[in-house]
Amino acid sequence: MSKLKVFIAKKIPREVEKYIGEFCDYEKWEKDIPIPKDELFKRIHDKHGIMLSGIKINEEFLNNAPNLKVVSNISVGYNNFDLNSMKARGVIGTNTAGTLDDTVADLIFGLILSSARRICELDKYVKDLKWKPSDEESLFGYDVHHSTIGIIGMGRIGEVVAKRAKLGFDMEVLYYNRRRKHEAEKNFGVEYCDFKSLLKRSDFVVLMTPLTKDTHHLIGYKEFDLMKGNAIFINASRGQTVNEEALIDALKNKKIYGAGLDVYEIEPINKDNPLLKMPNVVTLPHIGSATEKTRLKMAMAAAENLVKALYGEGTQSVVPELRK
Ligand code: GLV
Repeated sequence: MSKLKVFIAKKIPREVEKYIGEFCDYEKWEKDIPIPKDELFKRIHDKHGIMLSGIKINEEFLNNAPNLKVVSNISVGYNNFDLNSMKARGVIGTNTAGTLDDTVADLIFGLILSSARRICELDKYVKDLKWKPSDEESLFGYDVHHSTIGIIGMGRIGEVVAKRAKLGFDMEVLYYNRRRKHEAEKNFGVEYCDFKSLLKRSDFVVLMTPLTKDTHHLIGYKEFDLMKGNAIFINASRGQTVNEEALIDALKNKKIYGAGLDVYEIEPINKDNPLLKMPNVVTLPHIGSATEKTRLKMAMAAAENLVKALYGEGTQSVVPELRK
């Protein structure tokens, strides 16, 4: 049987490329910048499979790839999939769920600690030689331990955040999810809570929900109004789950204390975005899963998903909405 044709739309580790080469004829995008659209459309017209992250798989894309059978996302999120169009054409879509939970949870705790204890702000303060005695009240922050964390979206990552919060920091853990997670309640003593009460009670509001049409702008003006004045808002899901104007308003008007952000409505962030000027906001460039080990694991998982799905072996990693 001849090898099927594949396009790899972003840089991946050499060993992953080698694995794909054993099963497929592949072409790849080598540069560090994202592939331009016209170049992408030129390269995919004869391909059966594509491995990528973030690129929109919509009608336009699919029209340019008439032989396409499989799209393998090198990410957990799959809000780049137009699920209806893919379904209508029988295109399989896979993701890398389960490869990055602990890595993203570590980063979320990084955001929690750095915004509560003002680590980035005070790092700058030391480097700018502004050091004052440490009984200076203007440098005080908030305790993370024994505070209340509210997790919105209790998927795999939510659960490992809950575990760290409960077992590592003695926090009271509230969560809101479409469905109750009885196992997590039993294992970590986390408390299921309705959406509004979670917003009212939490010192840390951590948004972990995937982006869908139901979660677009899930957090907006009304929601920030419900939060405590000392609340810290953490988002490491997708920027569009939050109305960013409402977030900026809440921070400006001290409706909340601060924010730790890994994602934004527009990425890369706009240079005149007011969030960039706020010392009480920790900003990261969407790097939740970015460790060497985890990125290798994700790329290898995506490659295995691609090969299995292309050659009809079946994979657990087809996204739920596209499962047969
Ligand atoms: C990262 O944002 C992912 O969805 O894996």
